[in-house]
Formats: sequence, structure tokens, C-alpha cells
Amino acid sequence: MAGQLQEKIETFSISNVTPGIRVSQDIKDKNGFLLVGANTELTDRLIDKLKQFGITCVPVFVAQQISNVPINNINLNEIFREQLLNSVNTSIVNFIKNDTFVDRIVQIITDITKDDILMSLLIEIKTIGHNVLMHSINVFTLSMLIGLKNHFPVDRLMVLGQSALLHDIGKKFLPSEILDNARNLSSEEKKVFEQHALFGFEYLQSLGKLPYEISRIVLQHHERLDGSGYPGKLSKDDIHKLAQIVAITDSFASIIEGQERANRFAFAEAIEFLLGSGGIYFNYDLSTCLLDEITVYHIYDWVVLSNDDIGIITKIHDSTPLRPVVTVFFDKFKQKYSFPKQIDLTTKTYINLFIKCTLD
Ligand SMILES: [Fe+2]
Repeated sequence: MAGQLQEKIETFSISNVTPGIRVSQDIKDKNGFLLVGANTELTDRLIDKLKQFGITCVPVFVAQQISNVPINNINLNEIFREQLLNSVNTSIVNFIKNDTFVDRIVQIITDITKDDILMSLLIEIKTIGHNVLMHSINVFTLSMLIGLKNHFPVDRLMVLGQSALLHDIGKKFLPSEILDNARNLSSEEKKVFEQHALFGFEYLQSLGKLPYEISRIVLQHHERLDGSGYPGKLSKDDIHKLAQIVAITDSFASIIEGQERANRFAFAEAIEFLLGSGGIYFNYDLSTCLLDEITVYHIYDWVVLSNDDIGIITKIHDSTPLRPVVTVFFDKFKQKYSFPKQIDLTTKTYINLFIKCTLD
């Protein structure tokens, strides 16, 4: 049967995008501002603009030769796979500072989604709730960053990636009233909620289709280095190294997703949490690995300082991303200063000043 050309969506690292290629969905900056609309053909100028706004990868249309398959034979797994890849792309855009690891992350999720068992488990996670699936994808992306930064070999990255995607699968056995109200539970309800780690372990073991290691990481993703976690109250090296990574990325993603709307302030809060608890709850080296690779503020973000001055970020220090250089234009009464003031938040003079929020 003669084939025909069809468009499919693929995620390209921004450095591989060439003029003439069409984006498949709206590309927005961190604040939700539209940079390039869906279906727009990219030009050199637009590609530069995306780079300037820190976009690391973009979903684009590519032509693909397909056989003439009747429409009712469309493989639903294929559609879900495309959705997953798009969601990973969104997660990458939301979190990652530069495109060093983007292609590897896209390759790993592509490989993982070739596995039918994983695909059916991910569909089960989607049925728990779209937010649970998105959270799992965020945890996957962040875990990959730590793994890649630590030069993990492919087999370790695959186990880490699969475990990150499946870490909360035990939630499918929780009553919906507990799932829907997870941030406001009584102590009795909390005990039920905490069982999801064990439920996930038992479920994956009962299937008998995945390596034991993945079940073990799922079981341990709420353990903490100081023994304060659950379900085993394990400490330090008794916790699987990859479970230590999922513990970090799960906590980090949860703080950001818990905000009304994920914004830079949520990132700052999540980073402060990791820095504050690094070494106590979480492996310090793995936590700082993550912080090295994620984005907090962008150049040209408008921010309000703690003294209510308003300005834009003009420089971000690699070692202190939460304390960038801000060029202040307006005072707290929104009156323009005669001359903009440059405030480097790392200097002693401004030690008591901090960024209160971003302006969306
Ligand atoms: Fe969990």
C-alpha cells in the first residue's frame, strides 16, 4: 500500500532548531507570556528570541512517511506517547537552565515509552489524576538532570527514569477523599496517605514484570537521611542511592506544584528548602547537583525587592542564582528614579535585601 506524508511532533533542542521549522504548540516564557504561537514558522530572529528567554527545547512538526492506515486503527498508545513527550518538553522548559542535557533526556523518555509495560503503567498513573502524571514527569526530568550531571551510565539512567515516573503509582490505591485533600490531612489520614509507597512497591512486585530495584526505589522515595521518613524509617546508606535522588526531586517538584501557579518565587522557596535541608533529609551533593542545573530567575524578569523597589534582573551569578543583580527603576510608590540603580544582591551593602516576588 502506498505511503503518505503525515506530520508528527518531535522535541528539538533549541540549538538544533533551524529557520522554516514550525512549532507545534504555544511557547511561553516562565511567566506565561506567549513568545511564539502554535504553528508559527520559526525565523532566525524568533530562534534568537527563544534562546534569549531561556527556552531550551521546542516541540516542532516534522514530516513522516506513513502507511495508509484507516483512521479507526490509530494506535491510542501512540497518541499517549506523543502527549508524554510533550509533557516532558513542558517540564524541561519549566525547569532546565541550559540545553546541555535536553537531547539525552528526550532520548531516555523516548526509549522508556517504547516499553509497553511502562506505557500501561503510565496510563494507570494518568487515571489517578492528570496532576499525578505531570508531577511524575517533573520528577522524571529533575531526576534525569541529577543522573546526567553525575555521568550515570545508560542502564542506571533507565532505572532512575522508570522509578521516577512510577514513584507514586501506589496512589491508585488511596481513597479519592485523601488524594484530593493531600495537603490538609488529619494524622489518621496521613497514615493512610503514607501507605502509597508500600502499595506501589507491592503492586509492582505483584506484576512481576519490572526489576526488583525499581520497586525498591518506589518503596523508599519518602525515606529521609536522618531516619524521619517513611515507611521504613531508613537512614543514610540504607536508602537506595536512586531513591535518595527521587526523594529530592519529588520534594522539590511538590513545593513548586503546590503553589497556586508555579512561579519564580516558588522556585526560590523550593531551593531554600533544599539548601536548608540538604545533608539532613537529603544527600547534600545530589541536592546541589540539581540546584546547579535548574533555572530560577531569567535576565529581564521584573521583580519586587523586599524594600518594594521594582526593577529587572540584569545579571545572574552562577554560584548564587537567588541573589542576582537587579537594575531598579521604580521606588515603592512606583515613582521612577532619575537614574536607575544597580543592586548586586551578593554584595554586603545589600545583605538585608532580597527578591520578594516576580511581576507577571
Ligand atoms: Fe509519594
